[in-house]
Amino acid sequence: MKDRVELFEVGPRDGLQNEKREISVAEKVALVDCLSRAGFSRIEVASFVSPKWVPQMAGSTEVLQGITKASGVRYAALTPNMRGYEDALASRADEIAVFASASEGFSKANINASIAESIERFAPILEAARHIDLPVRGYVSCVTDCPYDGPTAPEMVAEVADRLFSMGCYEISLGDTIGKATPDSTARMLIAVKDAVPVTRLAGHFHDTGGRAMANIDAALALGIRVFDTSVGGLGGCPFAPGAAGNVATEAVHDHLTRLGYVTGLDRSVLTEAAAMAQALRPVTADA
Ligand code: HMG
Ligand code: MG
Repeated sequence: MKDRVELFEVGPRDGLQNEKREISVAEKVALVDCLSRAGFSRIEVASFVSPKWVPQMAGSTEVLQGITKASGVRYAALTPNMRGYEDALASRADEIAVFASASEGFSKANINASIAESIERFAPILEAARHIDLPVRGYVSCVTDCPYDGPTAPEMVAEVADRLFSMGCYEISLGDTIGKATPDSTARMLIAVKDAVPVTRLAGHFHDTGGRAMANIDAALALGIRVFDTSVGGLGGCPFAPGAAGNVATEAVHDHLTRLGYVTGLDRSVLTEAAAMAQALRPVTADA
């Protein structure tokens, strides 16, 4: 039987958060509703962060309330603190995500906290979510390179991933935030992280800035990773990571995996439709 690989769609959040043009709630809802027909199990659609920090995510409540939820799909939201957690709950997100960094420079730039402070902030979120069985995903950013601190030590990634997993995150997504990873640095990082967190609880999150996302996915596949975050139409970037231009495109990863003999369970014709929709939302390419 062919191996299954899950693509976790992050376009409506990671993809759109960096777009310069204001994208309306109706446009976001239309994109998510299209993606809901593609066969994803999880789609990240919202981010309850400060609108001063990320104006593009300001309509997250309206997006979660406006979409038509498909059965079997969990709609996810980022929550940096308890305020974000409460807003996500009120908006009926099906799962949430906390996001840490493996480098101090990016942690400070992204969430105005040291790594240790961010973990402290996440503790009450995980505690509250546990009481109501709300799944919490954990992100670790800058897993091979940081725009501020340079190369990241694999042991640091393993330590942060271990902390998030021990606190109750059901899966740890490992982010090459600025797309500088190579297959070698990806493998070195994963070998260290696999010692701390079971490989079945890890996901790869590659940005294609350096044009190596697919090669890095191959390196991760060889080490047993079977979940990848992707963004339809290659939308993406991070406002606090200069050079983080785009997430690897969902449809390209789907095609690549299919050629390799993996099964994603996704409907290619819906992906084509969603990719066209996503591209139409960004007449001007964001330059992060
Ligand atoms: P801060 O300035 O240190 O916090 O920001 P604060 O507590 O002093 O609050 C500042 C203002 O934000 C206050 O408003 C708060 O009320 C408000 P004011 O009094 O000035 O009017 N505020 C909030 N508003 C809405 N929702 C909230 C919230 N919390 C505070 N939850 C904070 C700290 C974490 C809030 C800020 O740094 C922030 O929002 N950062 C988010 C940055 C972000 O979203 N980055 C992109 C996502 S991470 C990413 O893309 C990487 C990833 O894709 C993986 C990868 O690629 O590696 C996941
Ligand atoms: Mg990202």
